[in-house]
Order: sequence, then C-alpha cells, then structure tokens
Amino acid sequence: MDKKSVYRTNIIGAGEVGTARSVDMNKKVIHTTNSLFWDTKGSDVLGATALPLYGAFVSEEKCQLFGDVSGKKMLEIGCGSGQSLQYLGERKASELWGMDISENQIEKTRQHLTASGLSAKLICSPMEEKCGIPENYFDFVYSIYAIGWTTDLEGTFCQIASYLKKDGAFIFSWSHPIHKCVVAENNMLVFKKCYFDESWYSVSLDESTLTLSDRKLSTYVNALSKAGFVIEQMIEQSDDEIMQSRDDNSDFAKKAKMLPVTFVIKARKL
Ligand SMILES: C[S@@+](CC[C@H](N)C(=O)[O-])C[C@H]1O[C@@H](n2cnc3c(N)ncnc32)[C@H](O)[C@@H]1O
Repeated sequence: MDKKSVYRTNIIGAGEVGTARSVDMNKKVIHTTNSLFWDTKGSDVLGATALPLYGAFVSEEKCQLFGDVSGKKMLEIGCGSGQSLQYLGERKASELWGMDISENQIEKTRQHLTASGLSAKLICSPMEEKCGIPENYFDFVYSIYAIGWTTDLEGTFCQIASYLKKDGAFIFSWSHPIHKCVVAENNMLVFKKCYFDESWYSVSLDESTLTLSDRKLSTYVNALSKAGFVIEQMIEQSDDEIMQSRDDNSDFAKKAKMLPVTFVIKARKL
C-alpha cells in the first residue's frame, strides 16, 4: 500500500465518508480536482446548505446576523445553488453578486435566480484569486459552507476584506472542527482524529474525488485578525427548536445535541 494511503477518519457533511488519503497541498491540482467534483457531482451528492440555514441546526431567523439587508450590496463566496442569494434578494438587497470555482454551480445559481425573478452578477473563479470583483464596495460578504475549500485561508480573507467597504461585515459558516474529529459509534461519541491535524487529504465520494484540509478554530480566528477583521459574534450552539421540529433521530442529530457541528462567525472590516 502507498504509504500515504493510510486510513484516517473523514467526515464530510453529516457523517463519515470513505477512506482519506494524505496528499501534498498543490493549489492547481486541488482546484482541478474540486472544480471537477462541483461541476459533475456537487450538491447532488452533498446537498445544498443555504440561508436561512447556516448549517443543519443554525438559522439566520434565530441569529439575525444580517439584520435588515434592504438597500445593501451583497457578495456570496461559493454561491453554489443560488438559494442564499435568493433569500437576500427577496429581502430587498440592492445588489447581488456571487462567485464560485465551478461553471456548473454558477449556472445553477443563474437559473435559480432567474426562476425567482432575480438577477446577480456572477463570476467563475477560485476564491483565492483576484477576479474583477470591485474593491471597497460591499456592505456584506458572506459564505455558507464554502470558505473551508480554500487552499489559502489568509489570502482569501485578505481578498474578502478588500471587497468590503470600511465597517462592512463578513459572515461565514463551516463545519465545526470538533465535528470533524468525532464519530458516533455504538451509541457513543468517539474522538477519532487529531484536532491539530491540518494536513491535506483526498477522499472518494460517489466515484469522484474531493481534496481538503480541516483547520483548527484558532486558524480561522488568527487569519481573520491578520486580514484586518474584528470578530463581532461567533455561534457554535445547535438550535433546540430546529432539532425538536425535525424529529430527527440520526447520529448526526444526536451528535449536534452534544457538540457543535457548525460554526458561524460575523466579523467586521476595520
Ligand atoms: C457546499 S457548496 C456551497 C453551498 C452553497 N451555500 C449552496 O447553497 O449551494 C461549496 C461551494 O464552494 C465552491 N468552491 C469550492 N472550492 C472553491 C474555491 N476554491 N473557490 C470558490 N468556490 C469554491 C463549490 O463549487 C461549491 O459551489
């Protein structure tokens, strides 16, 4: 066996998937691999996570991180299905912009918004790179379960800071790193992966491949600070009302009662 093809616990979305293989961080290869996944499989395999939900058990309706968005200029990083842009467009945001590495996801967003009688400026690009998005322009930049795909967290946060007006807000959600380490097994939660391990790995999903790394919370916090953001609010709590209303008895729901499966951060550009 290739010495890098060692088994390691790997959680994507709600549960454990496949055997992860350690890989080197090569931005070009990772972008090719991941954009192929999102072009061909994407949300058909992983499902969409979109506003008002920040994750399975956290909602904007309860948290009110955006507040009143009427007249505000919005940019979504990793716009995927377009459902979050629709949510904000229907709340009278004045401009909708979206960017995504996948042509197919951009097309999905376009079709979804058109069907809802909305339109957006859409750009196909990796979030790590400059791509013609205006600077000092947006009231809000946000991202729902897409930021973690970046190969360069600090660089991406610096790009995002450049798009925001002074005092503009950046709101994003991602899988909580504790959730990525803990597996439900025989009615117990078992810590199976080292929280500090941020190495890159590939995993096969539905005959396609994804490459990513799991970062510590401090990595996100420190990268935000370096990019000139101050954190205003962080949410880790699973919402009891959402859990009760779903009558969900899955391992994922049981896990969400015991530990954070999603984190959301609202940060402000100084
Ligand atoms: C989990 S989906 C986002 C879900 C989205 N909130 C929705 O409602 O569909 C992640 C998105 O990030 C995009 N993505 C992955 N890597 C990216 C990168 N480096 N730059 C920009 N977008 C990326 C994918 O194409 C995908 O559309």
